[in-house]
Amino acid sequence: MEIIIQPTQAGATIVAARIIGSLMRKNPRAVLGLATGSTPLSLYRELIAMKLNWSQVTTFNLDEYVGLPREHEQSYHTFMWDNLFKHVNVAKKNVHIPDGSARDIPKFCAKYEQQIRDAGGIDLQVLGIGTDGHIGFNEPTSSLVSRTRIKTLTRQTIADNSRFFGGAHKVPHHVITMGIGTIMEARQLLLLAFGEKKARAVAEAVEGPIGAINPASMLQMHPAARFCLDDPAASQLRHSDYYRWVYENKPDWQKV
Ligand code: F6R
Repeated sequence: MEIIIQPTQAGATIVAARIIGSLMRKNPRAVLGLATGSTPLSLYRELIAMKLNWSQVTTFNLDEYVGLPREHEQSYHTFMWDNLFKHVNVAKKNVHIPDGSARDIPKFCAKYEQQIRDAGGIDLQVLGIGTDGHIGFNEPTSSLVSRTRIKTLTRQTIADNSRFFGGAHKVPHHVITMGIGTIMEARQLLLLAFGEKKARAVAEAVEGPIGAINPASMLQMHPAARFCLDDPAASQLRHSDYYRWVYENKPDWQKV
């Protein structure tokens, strides 16, 4: 794992955007896994400003609320078009977001997995992290080898996301999410976390034991996982001095 710590969210975002931009320039047909929520908003603004060529890029989103129609203002479908897709030249046919109104959810999930395989797998998956350590909506105790499926949100996640819905009672309880096994098959993982409220989950993921109680801890098993953190999100890491030192002393050939 590479732990990149920058003083501010803006700094960590620029590093993450550079990593994605460099991949897209090297591989114009890149397959990107994307996330929603507050965390990637600054990343998407930065990627839009970079005026990259998205015409041959394929995207797969991590998750979607069950029961929300696509056009609902809080659906992740709406989120992605408002905050990224409508500002870049991505081809609509190359965009994949789980369908929260699918009638046969297991069938839909199997098809989503097949679509990822048919696209040749995900080159780089962007991740946020929940205050409970979830990635995608793989809540604590999710199987570490899980595939795309329906999950029930924890009360913690419902409370965390109630800010978007104007009250916890309006947050759907169920979601479709890529599984941890699905996420782990991406060739690169890029987890972003900002702010002190993520500090504990980040520290457990990076330095704690690997376990389903903190799903992000599974990233320790990935050969190319990066965390892009601001200082507050890194504040509970015991070895942060080492991570900073490693990043500052990277040989030129290793720099993005
Ligand atoms: C969203 C997702 C979630 C979020 C996480 C953090 O697609 O996969 O894992 O990344 O809930 O959300 P924010 O960024 O709103 O703190």
